Amino acid sequence: MRKKIVAGNWKMNTLPAEGVELTKGVVAGRGEVCKCVDFIVCPPFTHLSTVAEALKGSDIALGAQNCAAEEKGAYTGEVAASMIAALGCKYVILGHSERRQYYGETSATLNKKMVQAYANNLTPIYCVGENLEEREAGKHFDVVKAQIEEVVYNLTAEQFKNLVIAYEPVWAIGTGKTATAEQAQEIHAYIRKVLASKFGAAADECAILYGGSCKPSNAAEIFAKEDVDGGLIGGAALKAEDFLAIGKGFEK
Ligand code: 13P
Repeated sequence: MRKKIVAGNWKMNTLPAEGVELTKGVVAGRGEVCKCVDFIVCPPFTHLSTVAEALKGSDIALGAQNCAAEEKGAYTGEVAASMIAALGCKYVILGHSERRQYYGETSATLNKKMVQAYANNLTPIYCVGENLEEREAGKHFDVVKAQIEEVVYNLTAEQFKNLVIAYEPVWAIGTGKTATAEQAQEIHAYIRKVLASKFGAAADECAILYGGSCKPSNAAEIFAKEDVDGGLIGGAALKAEDFLAIGKGFEK
């Protein structure tokens, strides 16, 4: 049985105290959602320590939104994987389209970040996805295939067992435009096939999340699809009620 995961990517939102309030809200309502769903919150670096404190005693995991490609040293402004792990992170989002697009992250950089993540026992949530132009040109399959081959194929079989993939079509992120459940299923199944051609049956165990304008009103339909194992949630993760309601999407 694959894990069912609902992960919140807060991006660059909330002040530290607001992040703690949001976390408390999620912790307080968590009991209303099936234990079969794993929740993860990924606040900004500056909130990790206080959010970790607010999560104590709950089964909600902590993740970071990024980590440095290097281990440590003279890299002003960077945050090492060892630092986020020391604050209690179990997960790290890598390769989000916003990092690829605005910060020039390439597969070469992401390979280095993967090394750092695994060296610190973090589970990467590796993001893939095409932009609108690529979707309209029918290149979405090739784009995600390359993003997987150039990075995920470099993992060992052991590392692959500790990986979450998030498919996030760039045209659906923050736009209110969601992929249809059928579009999500089609590409999730394809991603699993690409993973299977390298890692065999282990690909059946890999959680593949959908991300892009996922909200309480559409989560159930998308999560009902066979190869969709949950969601990576942006905007709707900033309200405890909505974030939890997305988790309830698995019960419908
Ligand atoms: P939205 O849910 O705000 O569209 O963001 C999706 C996303 O990028 C999550 O990583």
